[in-house]
Amino acid sequence: MPHLNLSADEVLSTTRAVRKRLDLRRPVAREVLKECLELAIQAPTGRNRQRWDFIVVTDPEQRRALAEVYWHGPRDPLALSASHLPGANFTRARVGEHITSKTYEGLHYLLEHLHEVPALVIPCIRGRTENASILEQANTWGSILPAVWSFMLAARERGLGTAWTTLSPFCEREVAELLGIPHEEIMQAALIPVAYTIGSDFRPGPRVPLAQVVHWERW
Ligand SMILES: Cc1cc2nc3c(=O)[nH]c(=O)nc-3n(C[C@H](O)[C@H](O)[C@H](O)COP(=O)(O)O)c2cc1C
Repeated sequence: MPHLNLSADEVLSTTRAVRKRLDLRRPVAREVLKECLELAIQAPTGRNRQRWDFIVVTDPEQRRALAEVYWHGPRDPLALSASHLPGANFTRARVGEHITSKTYEGLHYLLEHLHEVPALVIPCIRGRTENASILEQANTWGSILPAVWSFMLAARERGLGTAWTTLSPFCEREVAELLGIPHEEIMQAALIPVAYTIGSDFRPGPRVPLAQVVHWERW
């Protein structure tokens, strides 16, 4: 499969959340998705338990059915903005309204075009965290997040764009029913749209400067 031949540092610094630059017309071969997943499952997990499963939806009818479920979920702008959550004011102060509103615009675009995205990947983790201890929560999320990020990095190297989305919690049961996921045992960690990108010139993203977030020796 063709690669962009980016350095590791380039991949790490230019893997953006791609929404408006997803090429919705170009198909993505199963082989390239498998390559990215092979790299994803090299990621670390707590006690090497590898409690992950990955659902890849490429069938157009199934994608539409899935998109329809998501459309009925996260329409509420309040839920999308998470502005009601503790820390929201802190976040706005840090990154600014401009960045957050630009993100919401992309987020709505993605939602509207979800059924057109060639591949929708739902990484899952065995075990639910609703009533779990902090330790179990940390182990669970920490055992799926590195794999998904590896998948996204591998995709970027192959000219594919992705975006981590947390649309699942709004309609997890409905998605489970549609895809036959045993909801009581399996948690949907995210929904990752995958498509070739329109152009491949992505740049490092706007971030709060390191000096403001790094704490040497103590807080
Ligand atoms: C935990 C998490 C949840 C996210 N949820 C969504 C989402 O629901 N929808 C979306 O379009 N992007 C989502 N994103 C993507 C972020 O908005 C994006 O990574 C961030 O704005 C920084 O942009 P960049 O990745 O292009 O640098 C999420 C990212 C993370 C890590």
